[in-house]
Amino acid sequence: MPGNIPTGIEKNRSIGFTNRLLSKAFPHITTEKILKFSGDFDFKINFCWKQVGYLSKISYFGRGLSIHLIMSEFQGKCAILTGAGQGIGKEIARQLALQGAHLILNDLDADLLETTVEEMNERHVSGGGRCIGVPGDAGDLTVIDEMIHQATLHFNRLDMVVANAGITTFGDFLEYEADDFEKLMHLNLQGSFFLCQKSARAMIHRGIKGRIILMSSVTGHQAHEGLTAYGMTKAALQALAKLTAVELASYGITVNAISPGATITERTLEDPDYIPEWERITPTGVVTRVEDIAHTALFLLSEKTGQLTGQTLIVDGGWTSTSPQPKEK
Ligand SMILES: NC(=O)c1ccc[n+]([C@@H]2O[C@H](COP(=O)([O-])OP(=O)(O)OC[C@H]3O[C@@H](n4cnc5c(N)ncnc54)[C@H](O)[C@@H]3O)[C@@H](O)[C@H]2O)c1
Repeated sequence: MPGNIPTGIEKNRSIGFTNRLLSKAFPHITTEKILKFSGDFDFKINFCWKQVGYLSKISYFGRGLSIHLIMSEFQGKCAILTGAGQGIGKEIARQLALQGAHLILNDLDADLLETTVEEMNERHVSGGGRCIGVPGDAGDLTVIDEMIHQATLHFNRLDMVVANAGITTFGDFLEYEADDFEKLMHLNLQGSFFLCQKSARAMIHRGIKGRIILMSSVTGHQAHEGLTAYGMTKAALQALAKLTAVELASYGITVNAISPGATITERTLEDPDYIPEWERITPTGVVTRVEDIAHTALFLLSEKTGQLTGQTLIVDGGWTSTSPQPKEK
């Protein structure tokens, strides 16, 4: 790491900045943010030139104000995320948008997707990033093709993919219906498999050492009552990450999976006991938040994790290590 940072480049300067100068120095920061933080104050600027982009930090010592602005390695890169209208997918999208990435977002719920895309473009995208929606079933091959088409049409690249869309169907194993089984296979497995395959082709075609994440679950590691079919698909995604990691390693593309524990989303909040119950049985005493999953995703999407491939990271506050069950209803 130190080898990437030329010595003597780190500088401390106390300078009175005008808005215009700030805009030039930090083109990825929107004017709105610059106006908010500038004015007649003197800022202490630490520049640290890195191989990829800048890491910048602004501190106003007069009032103890400290603002850290990251010029990100994700700036100008393009990511596809499925099932991103809400929940985990939306938060990963939001964090990438804040770091200047272009986004192709998908969701089955076209209205929800439209609202999310609007929110991304109005509030979160930075540094020239743009967010485009592709509504539809992420298990359909035509929808997968359309997402990749939109990425290459608008941004002429595809760097990151998060196969996040997945459905959970509960059901007693002995009573489980073939229709429910097919729905799970269609989205959780067919969708993830072909998004992974078709995205990898697009990355290889452009010589991009891309990053692919599959969304597994703690239910893919351990048995959970009523979740046999779902857990089976999530375990299969861990195998898919391992197998495709080897297939794609020579192209510099990594494939990893994330296994979220019980995570607070719009969906899980429908149960009023969800937070207190999971707080009680999670070793950290904290329920997993979408932010926790998104931070892990950005780590795996980073250029720095090129040697980390075929792995599944469990993000659950330690719950899988002990596995106490929530109270029966
Ligand atoms: N939230 C959790 O506790 C948890 C735990 C473990 C794993 N996961 C996994 O994380 C992923 C995201 O979960 P979440 O809780 O954020 O989901 P969510 O249910 O909150 O949101 C999922 C989104 O996917 C969309 N969707 C549903 N079917 C779709 C389809 N066929 N095509 C495209 N979009 C579709 C929904 O409209 C919704 O907006 C899923 O794969 C899920 O299995 C979640």
